[in-house]
Amino acid sequence: MMSRHHGTFKKLNIPGPAPWPIIGSLIEINTGGFQKFQMDCMRKYGKVYGFYGGLSPMTIEIGDKEMLRIILVKEFANFTDRIVFKGFNGDVDTGINNLSGDHWRHVRSKITPAFSTGKLRKMAPLIDHASDTLVESLMRNVKGGNDVIEMMEVYGGYTMDVICSTAFGIQIDSQNNPNDEFVTNARKFLNLKLASPLILVLIFLPKLHFLMPLMGWSFLDKDIQAFFRRVTTTLLAARIAGDKSRVDFLQLMKNAQYEKEDSDEEDDNEYISVKKPSTSWSRKGITFDEILGNAETFFFAGYETTTITLSMASYYLAMYPEYQDKLRQELLDKIGSKTMTYDNIRDVEYLEMVINETLRISPPATRTDRVCLKDTEVNGIKIPAGMNISVPIYGIHHDPDNWRDPEKFIPERFAEKDSYDPMTFLPFGYGPRICIGMRLVQMELKLSLAKVIRNFRISISSETQIPPEMMKLGLLKPKTVKLKLEEIK
Ligand code: HEM
Repeated sequence: MMSRHHGTFKKLNIPGPAPWPIIGSLIEINTGGFQKFQMDCMRKYGKVYGFYGGLSPMTIEIGDKEMLRIILVKEFANFTDRIVFKGFNGDVDTGINNLSGDHWRHVRSKITPAFSTGKLRKMAPLIDHASDTLVESLMRNVKGGNDVIEMMEVYGGYTMDVICSTAFGIQIDSQNNPNDEFVTNARKFLNLKLASPLILVLIFLPKLHFLMPLMGWSFLDKDIQAFFRRVTTTLLAARIAGDKSRVDFLQLMKNAQYEKEDSDEEDDNEYISVKKPSTSWSRKGITFDEILGNAETFFFAGYETTTITLSMASYYLAMYPEYQDKLRQELLDKIGSKTMTYDNIRDVEYLEMVINETLRISPPATRTDRVCLKDTEVNGIKIPAGMNISVPIYGIHHDPDNWRDPEKFIPERFAEKDSYDPMTFLPFGYGPRICIGMRLVQMELKLSLAKVIRNFRISISSETQIPPEMMKLGLLKPKTVKLKLEEIK
């Protein structure tokens, strides 16, 4: 086993860590997390190396800018898919994150209009409302003497509110009603059991994946899936008879279900949109299962990533009060006491710089991946069909060839938009399969962070963990971010 896989990488002239029998590099990855694995490998083997993650196929990790431009953009047609374990994800199997080939193209092109600038502008009031609730809830805590706050928790409540209202069109104040039925189910839904024996099946017996749906097994709890199926059915039925002008993803996807053309302005980001499937994929609209799978996917993809980014941005602003003061001053200069809106918040350039630097130094998704669908030569390396490609987002963001003093938090790096190569800053991935929620989340991050900084001075306290200890598996997630807040009068 060892020599066979070693042999493949050797033939391709790609260096990499020697794999353990059966488990490949899983021990190294699991003990230090993908971030440490990427940094260690990059130091030892350079920007392109091969590793082996168990019985699943081998992976080439590529941190080289030119090669990434080819894989993510130029030759995207040969690298359309992600590594997915079919039949493992219950109802989320039909979310775009888990779809492949023309099925992915079809569904992504159908739901893309829901993320256009026009739609996002109409969704801004939903986010505005949730961010006001966030500030009110922080204010209540601070005024009540509870001024050292677990930011992961409060931002988690805010993010939950935003997802419930933008994805499902349900206004629930989870920040004040944590026991609401929808909220408790959503929390359980998000709380995947990563220690589940199913993970072991996935790692050691991948050839048995096909059994999962047949046995009714999935990562997701059956009762919780049934709950969301019920809620979505009821909500969609109400929409058929009801108000068609609503702008939440459920409504917009329902419009796509019946193939109503969206008359709103076209998308202005070449990568958010995707070309229509070129082949015989002739089915119109999208199905109920695809609507459900995607509404749930927005939960999975958006909840923790956003909560982490807000918590880490607040942590860095507490660690570097000079940047916090600069941000507050720019907010005062550009918006003053006026209401913050989708449009005026975009003028506060320093806000974007702080968020970008947070996402560079601490990207919640430390990696993304593609599968090579057709033998392709990329910068002299012959990548065979079936090979997995991993993009080391964390390693790229911390590579001293890309960023000077990469471990230092310096928002000013992003002062000039064209001063860096887009292949060196990939918190949302890149190319036609870039994060579909990117611009939605940028608005969500900006509105809330701006309101928090306008109303509170944030600082570290004796309870702040410096630096925050990060989870080893999954997202780059701090275990705790406790910060002290003081009202600005
Ligand atoms: C700070 C927050 C977020 C970060 C850092 C993030 C990051 C990412 C990354 C790295 C990818 C992979 C892109 C690629 O392979 O090129 C991705 C995909 C995706 N994201 Fe996000 N994301 C965030 C928020 C959101 C939100 C709020 C949503 C919900 C609308 C969302 C929905 C998705 C979906 C559906 C995909 C799969 C797209 C596809 O396969 O076509 N994300 N995200």
